[in-house]
Parts: sequence; C-alpha cells; structure tokens
Amino acid sequence: MSGQSTYEAAVARSKTLEAAIQANPAAFRVLTGDRPTGRLHIGHYFGSLQNRVRLAGMGVRTFILIADYQVLTDHEAFSEISENTKQLVIDYLAAGLTPGENVTIYPHSYVPEANQLMLPFLTLVSSAELNRNPTVKEEIQAAGLKSVNAGMLTYPVHQACDILFCKGNVVPVGKDQLPHLELTRTIARRFNEKFAPGRPVFPEPEALLSKTPHIPGLDGAQKMSKSRGNAILLADSEDETAARIKKAKTDADRHITYDPENRPEVANLLNLTALCEDNDPRVIAGELGDGGGGALKRRLTEAVNEKLRPLRERRKQLEKDPAYIRSVLLSGAETARKIAAGTLEEVRRVMNMEI
Ligand code: TRP
Repeated sequence: MSGQSTYEAAVARSKTLEAAIQANPAAFRVLTGDRPTGRLHIGHYFGSLQNRVRLAGMGVRTFILIADYQVLTDHEAFSEISENTKQLVIDYLAAGLTPGENVTIYPHSYVPEANQLMLPFLTLVSSAELNRNPTVKEEIQAAGLKSVNAGMLTYPVHQACDILFCKGNVVPVGKDQLPHLELTRTIARRFNEKFAPGRPVFPEPEALLSKTPHIPGLDGAQKMSKSRGNAILLADSEDETAARIKKAKTDADRHITYDPENRPEVANLLNLTALCEDNDPRVIAGELGDGGGGALKRRLTEAVNEKLRPLRERRKQLEKDPAYIRSVLLSGAETARKIAAGTLEEVRRVMNMEI
C-alpha cells in the first residue's frame, strides 16, 4: 500500500473509533504524550490539546505522559527538561485538563515498572524494522545527527511501553506518529501470540487522528514550531502575540480571498482566525475584502488574544503555584506506577519468570 492510501485507511479507522468512543466512553483508555522540549503553541492547542480536553470531558480515562527520556535521543541539551516538564503541565491545566479521577499526568522517567517492559519488548522487533521507521529517519535528518545513538532507534519500542503499560487502546496522535503506533500494535500482537496465545495481555491500540488540519508556521514554513520562531505560544502575552503576527508572511494582493492552493500564507492566517472565532475562513475573507494583510493580521491578533484570554489567565495563576504543579506530577506518577506494577506482574507470569 502506498503511504497515502495507508493514511486514508488510518483516517477512516479513526472516524469509526471516534463514533465508538462517543457511544461508550468507559470502554476506552486514552494515552498520549509530548516531549518536554518547550512551551506549547496554538498548533498544539487546536491540533491536540483541545481534543484531549474534549475526551477527558466525556469521561474517558486519560493518561498524559511527558516523554522526558525521549528528549535525550536527539537533543544535546538536557538542562531544561525539568522546567519544560513543569511548563507543559501548566499548559495542560490551563487548557482545561483536570488531573484526578480520570486524568493522570506524569513523566515516563518516574515509572520504572513501565520502563522495564522495554526488555521483553526489544526482543520482539528486529533491528531492520527499527532502521526503516520513517519518522525516526526524518528526525535523525532534521537534528543533523552525525551518529545515531541506540536510544534514537529504539525509542519507538519505548513508546510501546508508554502505551501498553496501562493497556491504552486509543492514542490521539498526528500523522507523524503513525509508524510508532503501528510498531506498538505489532509488539502487542507478537507478545500475545508468543506468550499468551488465546488470552491476550495487551490490546492493539488504535490511532485517533486530529480533525484539525495541519497548522503551518506564521512564516509559511511547513510546521509551526517554537524553535523556528514562527509560532504563537500559549504562554505569550497579548503584545507578544501581536508582534509575532505582525511579522507573519502574507502576499502583495490587498484583496483578501481564501485560496489555500495559490495563497497558502493568507489561507493559513484565515484558518487560524476561523479556528479562534469558530467561524468559516471564507466568511472572514469576505468581511475583510480590500483591507489587505494589515486588517487580516489585526483580526487574527484580536481573535487569538480573545480565545486564549481565559487560558492565559489560568496560566498566570498556575505559575504562581509550583508546589501544586509538582504534586500533580508526583501523584500522576504514583497512579501510573501502581498500574504498571500490575502489568509487569502479569507479563512476568506469562513469560514464566515468576519465582
Ligand atoms: N513520540 C512522541 C513525540 O515525539 C511523544 C510520545 C512518547 C508519545 N510516548 C508517547 C506520544 C506515547 C503518544 C503516546 O511527540
């Protein structure tokens, strides 16, 4: 199957999954995660955060994992991991996730029992399979790594530990994570076939793809990212937001139209405005008419600041309470450890390693 048709199949499965979750939220366990490499931006907000808040609000059991070990695979710098982890939690809580009964937030480095699944899982995949993972290849290229450490090649196996320790069966992810999810499914299947035929230990989790289309950077680059300086951060002030949008790329045509094909930069700003206003980009374009890039940018600035105002207000309050943020992570880790210990015991039993 070609990459595109594989993707289309994943989109179709994701739609079926969404309907099943809505019909019976209690039957699902969501696990998803982020690397603590910086603050979240509005691309994350519309692409994944909002969806997590929605699922948790439906009562789905939700695990949000902070992939701190994964940072070591392609980042030389590790001095900011702790601070970035705390800032991530602030972004999550400010966006509306409420840790407690059905929401668990923790760094994976704090869950040794889940990490231990790595050892049997590594024996279920070949080095050839790891070498051909397209997302890993892209990351190696993007980071310009001269030599590839084994952690880089094997982190997708670790991601299977992240997902399977709690028997997660739904993983909300973007397109780039599909190869990792496929590997997790393979590991679950092989584990069950080898060690637990007829009485599976692990589910084969499914991807829940975001409904929000991919959000490019303000400079027209493929991807919005903090390091490229083309993002609007949730943590930005209203003035910083205005300054970032002011520098956004548009084009010379003063008449604003929604034409993603021929005017991708203008279309991107219109899409962002539409997401913030819960409006249609064509309607906004019609209203702006001959106002030019300036009017479009003013409208977007107003829309973003309006949309994020309550979140940013909560963010400020949360920043003042580091002890609370720490307690969220510690109690999340405690919950995760209990679940992981149970799974590890089960795994040991089926592998005939009990003493
Ligand atoms: N690999 C993901 C990323 O680079 C982060 C991640 C780690 C993750 N473990 C996960 C995502 C488990 C979903 C589920 O963004």
